Amino acid sequence: MSDPLPWVVGVSGASGTPYARAVLNGLIDAGEAVELIVSRAARLTLLDETGISFRDNSWRADLSGWLRRDIDPERVRYWTANDLAAGPASGSYPARGMVVVPASTAAVAGIALGLSKDLLQRAADVTLKEGRPLVVVPRETPYTRGTLQRMLELNDAGAVVLPASPAFYAGAGSVQQLVDFVAAKVLDVLGVPHSLITRWSGQLGALRADQREGFDR
Ligand SMILES: Cc1cc2nc3c(=O)[nH]c(=O)nc-3n(C[C@H](O)[C@H](O)[C@H](O)COP(=O)(O)O)c2cc1C
Repeated sequence: MSDPLPWVVGVSGASGTPYARAVLNGLIDAGEAVELIVSRAARLTLLDETGISFRDNSWRADLSGWLRRDIDPERVRYWTANDLAAGPASGSYPARGMVVVPASTAAVAGIALGLSKDLLQRAADVTLKEGRPLVVVPRETPYTRGTLQRMLELNDAGAVVLPASPAFYAGAGSVQQLVDFVAAKVLDVLGVPHSLITRWSGQLGALRADQREGFDR
């Protein structure tokens, strides 16, 4: 893979595979190259949330079914999560940065502590040590004190902690719009153009003009 440098996308085993799907499709739509890592636990969430059995030896077809699009092997590369000799395990491997979406609390802790227990965590550690952008999208509720501390440590290490917290403003009316809101925030941090959301205009769109009259802002 040559120009542009790829984004590493790590999918860990938190609920929220639709967020990963929206980010992956957003990157691909923007013409970005992607290096994909799917943790072992993420296969369970994928199976539960999409019905797709994601397997190493059929990853292209499985990913195609999940993203509902053809996968160009020149633009999307897949690495198995236990392959610690894979490209993204090394800082000399060219990459622009990484997104972990969704991020399990285990992944949050593992990355914050530098455990590198699998390729996803190692690639995130490499991203931090090389000073590249790292976006971590935790999905859990409520958070333990430990997870909150690990998130602070990630922030201190230079990562952007971007919880999967969709907003309901600007007329969001479907689950997909809520998912796209989170994916849009991720792509904004990466500086990747997209048209996933209608941006806030400063107007309370849900209110009719007569309702807005006399409304004290
Ligand atoms: C169906 C399912 C849903 C899960 N949802 C979450 C979740 O929302 N957040 C979370 O932190 N862990 C969740 N887990 C637990 C993680 O998968 C588990 O902690 C796992 O060890 C994470 O490993 P990984 O970080 O290597 O992917 C879920 C597990 C399953 C099977």
